[in-house]
Amino acid sequence: MSSLSGKTAIVTGGTSGMGEGVALKFAEEGANVLISGRYEERGESVVQKILKKGGSAFFNPGDISTSKANKKLVESAVSHFGQLDILVLSAGRLGLGKITELPEEEWLRTIDVNLNSAFYIMRYAIPEMLVNGGGNIVIIGSVAAFHAFPSHAAYCASKGALISLVRQVAADYGPEIRINLLCPAQVDTPLLRSSVKAFDNPETIIRQTEAKLPMKRLGTTNDIADAVHFLASDSSSWITGSCLTIDGGFLCT
Ligand SMILES: NC(=O)c1ccc[n+]([C@@H]2O[C@H](COP(=O)([O-])OP(=O)(O)OC[C@H]3O[C@@H](n4cnc5c(N)ncnc54)[C@H](OP(=O)(O)O)[C@@H]3O)[C@@H](O)[C@H]2O)c1
Repeated sequence: MSSLSGKTAIVTGGTSGMGEGVALKFAEEGANVLISGRYEERGESVVQKILKKGGSAFFNPGDISTSKANKKLVESAVSHFGQLDILVLSAGRLGLGKITELPEEEWLRTIDVNLNSAFYIMRYAIPEMLVNGGGNIVIIGSVAAFHAFPSHAAYCASKGALISLVRQVAADYGPEIRINLLCPAQVDTPLLRSSVKAFDNPETIIRQTEAKLPMKRLGTTNDIADAVHFLASDSSSWITGSCLTIDGGFLCT
């Protein structure tokens, strides 16, 4: 039997990058997957990839920065698949700018998407998980929680706050709910590519980034999907409230 057979998972940010990788992996492992993102075309394309391989998935469109949208996501998973077991929060944005230059709206929007959405969705998801005896939550943080990157004030603050939130939820809801934070460094996704687009020589920036990493390559969405699967499965049954860095050695440099 596959490791996630009979489980239902919500994957926010499932329309692209790491979230897409996680959605594909979870479906391969037998889970029913609800994919969340704003763009219908991208969401449906991931759903089709899963259905073609005999998996089970559907797309629920919406901007996850409001409480209402997160409530709808959870209700939608339960009405479609009858239960909720796993939550993976991969949706995120960069919101670049130094404190003195960043428009207030940009700060607030980044905190809404990267941090407040986790608060909103867990308020609705945890009670549904408890109905079936418990559940598992994996949030995608970032090494930006530990390391300053120029002009990433809102991003670093939002990712840093997730460390405390994850510990707190683990303490409040264990043993029924396990929750962990996965903190990647540079992973080859559309978000990373868009962050270097502004440079004259984006490919050189990527090559320089790779050269600085002890593992000499960017992370892949498969690297992330495997780690999320580990945290979401029984293989990690005594791990909760922790922060796992997955960074090719970035924090050693
Ligand atoms: N790539 C990296 O190097 C890196 C490193 C460390 C941490 N991270 C973190 O990893 C996570 C995934 O990033 P990624 O690199 O995979 O980026 P990505 O390919 O750009 O994917 C981001 C996802 O977030 C969704 N999203 C963004 N804003 C949203 C909103 N307001 N409402 C609903 N969905 C929204 C997007 O969906 P739609 O476009 O369909 O709305 C998309 O599916 C993020 O939390 C990011 O901070 C990335």
